[in-house]
Amino acid sequence: MALWGGRFESRPDELFKEFNDSLPVDAALAAHDIEGSIAWARAIHRAGVLTADELGRLTSALSALLTEISKSPSLPLADNDEDIHSWVERRLIEAAGDLGKKLHTGRSRNDQVATDFRLYVRAQIDARLAELTNARRALIDLADRTSTVITSGYTHLQRAQPILFAHWALAYQEMLERDAARLQDARKRVNISPLGSGALAGTTYQVDREQIARDLGFDTPTRNSLDATSDRDFVLETLSANAIAAIHLSRLAEDLILFASQEFAVVEMHDSVSSGSSLMPQKKNPDACELIRGKSGRIFGAFASLAMTVKGLPLAYNKDLQEDKEPLIDSMRQLSMCLRVLVRVLDTLKVRPDRARDSALDGYANATELADYLVARGIPFRDAHDIVGRLVRLAIEKRQRLEDLSLGQMQAVDGRIEQGVYESLKLETGLARREIPGGTGPQAVESAVRAARRRLNE
Ligand code: ARG
Repeated sequence: MALWGGRFESRPDELFKEFNDSLPVDAALAAHDIEGSIAWARAIHRAGVLTADELGRLTSALSALLTEISKSPSLPLADNDEDIHSWVERRLIEAAGDLGKKLHTGRSRNDQVATDFRLYVRAQIDARLAELTNARRALIDLADRTSTVITSGYTHLQRAQPILFAHWALAYQEMLERDAARLQDARKRVNISPLGSGALAGTTYQVDREQIARDLGFDTPTRNSLDATSDRDFVLETLSANAIAAIHLSRLAEDLILFASQEFAVVEMHDSVSSGSSLMPQKKNPDACELIRGKSGRIFGAFASLAMTVKGLPLAYNKDLQEDKEPLIDSMRQLSMCLRVLVRVLDTLKVRPDRARDSALDGYANATELADYLVARGIPFRDAHDIVGRLVRLAIEKRQRLEDLSLGQMQAVDGRIEQGVYESLKLETGLARREIPGGTGPQAVESAVRAARRRLNE
């Protein structure tokens, strides 16, 4: 049953119907469509359209349908209705008879779909926020277990300065904390009630829009009916927050893939999140992390896709807007998987302190400490930089670490170097000198771990 047959002489072309129908996608909104319909039934009852008895019969039929949908969410997929709104209305009429036909009084599918989708996006954001919390907890736990593991930090993917492994883990926790804040912020603009906007110009029935908003847990009604029925910023904003989160997960995954390679071998991923090769028996591949990195492409694509769809649409509703759901649903599903898989990767990650330490010892990561040592002896930094550069060149020639050069060899480069230089070249010395808030000093990191956990539990 279509909702609009009266004006038409012929039935829709089969191919066009397949093209036009959105039920296979918007079936995901079923529970929210029913929830919105119950709120609308109450609103038109208060406006005098439905008697108390009619309202009671409609809401009990809708509630029964809601129970049915909760038990089998894919129920609508078996049917051939145009969209989820048509499906719910048909089922309502089947259950409540002609009374069911009164529900749509004063409502349009345009304010209805905007309402349903806001309810759906809100629920999805809340689910991602919970998953982000779990991912942040896994990073903080990892930082806790690696607060004494010294490793090399990189810039340009070249060994740069020694850091604590925990400091690296906390860097990603910062990113995910901002991702959560972005979703929370987007949620404020999602949580607004379009019902009562009608098709585009506002409904003619005197419904109490504030009360509808309260009934649905929205903060406030929308302010302009043209905007309310055609605005999809709330989706775009959510998709962009998802995209940024996915990009962070991708960078994290890439770091882990590198660290797990035999060239680094600083971490080992658990068998349960790795796969093998069909040809090469020795292989253990970091597929979980590669997929997290790979999914970020389509999650960003979802944002790009809807941005292109909305660009250039004349006010108000156009059917193009039906294309808003697939990107959002896919973005949410993929991000959810990424976040949940990440927790397993992190919780089972083995960090190898010996290999991490070697990576910090090799590669002259303590060269900055040596320059600082010279500065402390009154040598201007630029000169110190040059002296250390020459010492590094000497050490490279001799295939040695800086701390393995003899005092005599160092003094041949600059006579002001003394025995105390060796203390400054120790990894622990360099770290201890970075006890600055936000730095990688052991105490700074320990209090950063505690502060992160406190914010997580807030
Ligand atoms: N399936 C449609 C959508 O997702 C529902 C709204 C239809 N409105 C209309 N005027 N045809 O946008």
